[in-house]
Amino acid sequence: MHPAYFTYPQIRDWSAVQAPGVLAVLGDPVAHSLSPQLHTPALRACGIAGDYIRLEVKEAEFGEALRRMQELGFIGANVTIPHKFTALRSVDQVSDQARQLGAVNTLLFRNGRIEGRNSDGPGFVRAIREAFGREIRDLRIMIIGAGGGAGRAVAVQCALEQCQQLVLVNRSLGKLVSLQNQALEIISSGKVLSFAHDQASLEKALPNVDLVINATNLGMKPEDGPVLAGAALTASHLAYDMVYRPNETAFLKQARTVGANACNGLGMLLHQGVVSFEWWFDRAAPLEAMRAGLMTAVSAG
Ligand SMILES: NC(=O)c1ccc[n+]([C@@H]2O[C@H](COP(=O)([O-])OP(=O)(O)OC[C@H]3O[C@@H](n4cnc5c(N)ncnc54)[C@H](OP(=O)(O)O)[C@@H]3O)[C@@H](O)[C@H]2O)c1
Repeated sequence: MHPAYFTYPQIRDWSAVQAPGVLAVLGDPVAHSLSPQLHTPALRACGIAGDYIRLEVKEAEFGEALRRMQELGFIGANVTIPHKFTALRSVDQVSDQARQLGAVNTLLFRNGRIEGRNSDGPGFVRAIREAFGREIRDLRIMIIGAGGGAGRAVAVQCALEQCQQLVLVNRSLGKLVSLQNQALEIISSGKVLSFAHDQASLEKALPNVDLVINATNLGMKPEDGPVLAGAALTASHLAYDMVYRPNETAFLKQARTVGANACNGLGMLLHQGVVSFEWWFDRAAPLEAMRAGLMTAVSAG
């Protein structure tokens, strides 16, 4: 049984023989990460020896920690807050897609090199397909909280998928300028719009979108204000909340009350892990074992 997490000084002193893991998630803090509960069942289901561990790594230690993991024979790692941007400049090679998304969340240690990729975008596409049976390219999509890290990644992925319309919404409108310009380089001009996060703007934009995504932090705490700022969805909307704790947020409740199809962000968490696993091992991931591990972890709180 491993401790909840290891620290960089601990891995510095390991020998390859003592290293408890083949996979890890690097973050600070990292104790809350559900990734081990997702990947350990996958390793077991595939008969792969070793474990998936949590590693608490400070910003200044990040580059050194990667080189040490490489020496210890790690196969791969996930990267979480606050290191997704540092990872972009700490690896030997970055995939085009991770560069476009502006962040790395998956590392592959291969042939003496460290490659950075991003599974958040492809994981999101799979999660929407599973939740609603729809393809991003066929949808008009509104992302509320598009100025945040997760919202930005999802917005760029929607542009890469050539969605029908991309409506970016954020409390701080200024944060959308560079994102809107980036999206416009990928899809044609009339397809990208930006709005402030207020009732009037949402009421204007909502009739012309199919899928509404909450990518803000709103809904995690009971005292949080409403995502829709007083505006209303209709039964024809699809509502996706990137928040997955609590299981049903006020945004999802509001959507279901009007008859809209609504889903929380657990599927995105699951599928980004599935994509990472496929990249590390060049094989199909045991989806149902991973889903069961995640569900058990989430219901245990
Ligand atoms: N399901 C998944 O796999 C998954 C993956 C990643 C993230 N997430 C979830 O996505 C959410 C955002 O994460 P993040 O990493 O993108 O956070 P972040 O970078 O801190 O961005 C937060 C976003 O929320 C907005 N926001 C915060 N408080 C607000 C308020 N009171 N009113 C209106 N907007 C507000 C921010 O607007 P400003 O720009 O104006 O500050 C920003 O757009 C979190 O709930 C996180 O748990 C889920």
